Amino acid sequence: MSNPDFTRINTDVLIIGAGGAGLRAAVEAFDQGASVTVVSKSLLGKAHTVMAEGGIAAALGDVDPQDNWKVHFSDTIVEGVYISDWRLVEKLAKEAPDRVFELEKFGALFDRTPEKKIMQRAFGAHTYRRLCHVGDKTGLEIIRTLEEQALHRDIRIMDEVFITTLIVEDKEVLGAVGFKLRTGEIVAFQAKTVIIAAGGCGRLYKVTSNSWETTGDGIALAFQAGAVMQDMEMIQFHPTGMVWPPGVKGLLVTEGVRGEGGILLNAKGDRFMLTYSPKKKELDARDVVARAIYHEIIEGRGTEHGGVYLDISNKGEAFIKKKLPGMYMQFKEFAGVDITKDKMEVAPTVHYYMGGIRVDPETSQSNIDGLFAVGEAAAGVHGANRLGGNSLADLLVFGKQVGLAAAKYAKKSKEKKISDKTVKDEISRINAFLNKQSPVNPYSLTDRLREAMSKYAGIIRNENDLLTLLKEIREMKKQYRDVGVGGGIKYNPGLVQCFELGSMLTIGELLAMSALERKESRGAHFRSDYPKKSKQWKKNILCVKFGDKVRLATSKVKEMPPELKKLVPEEVY
Ligand code: FUM
Repeated sequence: MSNPDFTRINTDVLIIGAGGAGLRAAVEAFDQGASVTVVSKSLLGKAHTVMAEGGIAAALGDVDPQDNWKVHFSDTIVEGVYISDWRLVEKLAKEAPDRVFELEKFGALFDRTPEKKIMQRAFGAHTYRRLCHVGDKTGLEIIRTLEEQALHRDIRIMDEVFITTLIVEDKEVLGAVGFKLRTGEIVAFQAKTVIIAAGGCGRLYKVTSNSWETTGDGIALAFQAGAVMQDMEMIQFHPTGMVWPPGVKGLLVTEGVRGEGGILLNAKGDRFMLTYSPKKKELDARDVVARAIYHEIIEGRGTEHGGVYLDISNKGEAFIKKKLPGMYMQFKEFAGVDITKDKMEVAPTVHYYMGGIRVDPETSQSNIDGLFAVGEAAAGVHGANRLGGNSLADLLVFGKQVGLAAAKYAKKSKEKKISDKTVKDEISRINAFLNKQSPVNPYSLTDRLREAMSKYAGIIRNENDLLTLLKEIREMKKQYRDVGVGGGIKYNPGLVQCFELGSMLTIGELLAMSALERKESRGAHFRSDYPKKSKQWKKNILCVKFGDKVRLATSKVKEMPPELKKLVPEEVY
């Protein structure tokens, strides 16, 4: 029945998020016979996927023939510091090569070796050269290809739609409610299944490679709906982001620069990674390199703008322009630096969330029936730290898996109906932000949150800081009750900011609580008061909503079967 206050859209599969994971899922679900709707709060193609620049990890063995899925499996488990879900990692390592070939059939074209095989480059903590790439624009090529595939199918794609809530009844998802940013029209999506593919939460921090959209909305929606969260303390600082000029601070400088031979120097000209990691040097794991850079800077050996130098100029102009055209342009246009001649200034930047929605490894379904998660919104693949290039592999492998599983679920599911009352209650909640007497400004509160996250839950953490952070976040949550903006629902970025701030406060609290709970240092989570890794903490920390509160629990990492266990070095404490 039509209702003047809102529109209903029925779909088998609703996908929230149109980055690589969402689009790959959409293609698969459609090909399995499901009706598919993709919504994105931003414009199609504007996704964090593009920031995986240097390549996709897949053990093709095209450059180093010794490589195979077993080594990729082992590297990923080791880099995740033994708290990844082994089954997810097994799937990632085994299936990534097929997903790369499939992507070429879809129309992507990877760089080639002289023998016309796929070119693969070195990246940190990968045993072999494994990153298939398109110069330094791999993520962009992947998005371009998947977008083209999605647009050529009868998939409903709605950009600039903001989802404000998921509707769950009796532990089963019924869909979601949101509004069209351009018109303000409220839409109730009645969906047999919902896939959260809305990425991570880099914008929780002041300095990040993530674009403005990455505010953790999908993860927060799932948490509010009752989904279990996992590894929320684990956020990755990529070692190299731009530091200058201020307008591009945090913008990614691909690991491909180091993969192609770039070296890191402090302001005194010392190649400091020789001290921190004599064997792997610049190509050690991201957490190791990021902490090394951090120490160089705080110990006073940083550059004028608070970074260190990254230098690839000895490789020569032709090589750099061919292999790293994006980096050449980025530094030339934004910083006035010619990287074929001069050094780049770089510092760590928040890049990727390993934490997120806990999923079943066989289907990517959450603990809520019909609610699935994929890509950066899902946890479990990368554990305590992610290998570069594994996010692109993740979104293709699990994008396909989740699309298939959601379509299958939808086939046996009945049409869903969201009641008028439920939608009207949500409309009132949206309008409440527009009708506050003397509203708290959402932008100022967001700045305060970012400041606090960056100060108290950065590369190095400790109990006092985390307690201070938690106290601050809880105070901010109280203030959030009075957040609001003027104007109406149409074209109102302030209104969107109100919702995004809600997502970030939710995730900030879970991150702080989990980081306090984990009394050890593991991967991206480094506690100066517990600087060692502890056997007792070989666990995942879980968070679930309990009324207005958060309940924390731990779950032991599942034992690997013997045939996989023997592929991985024994964990050393
Ligand atoms: O450095 C990079 O190109 C980023 C890749 C990734 O995060 O996977």
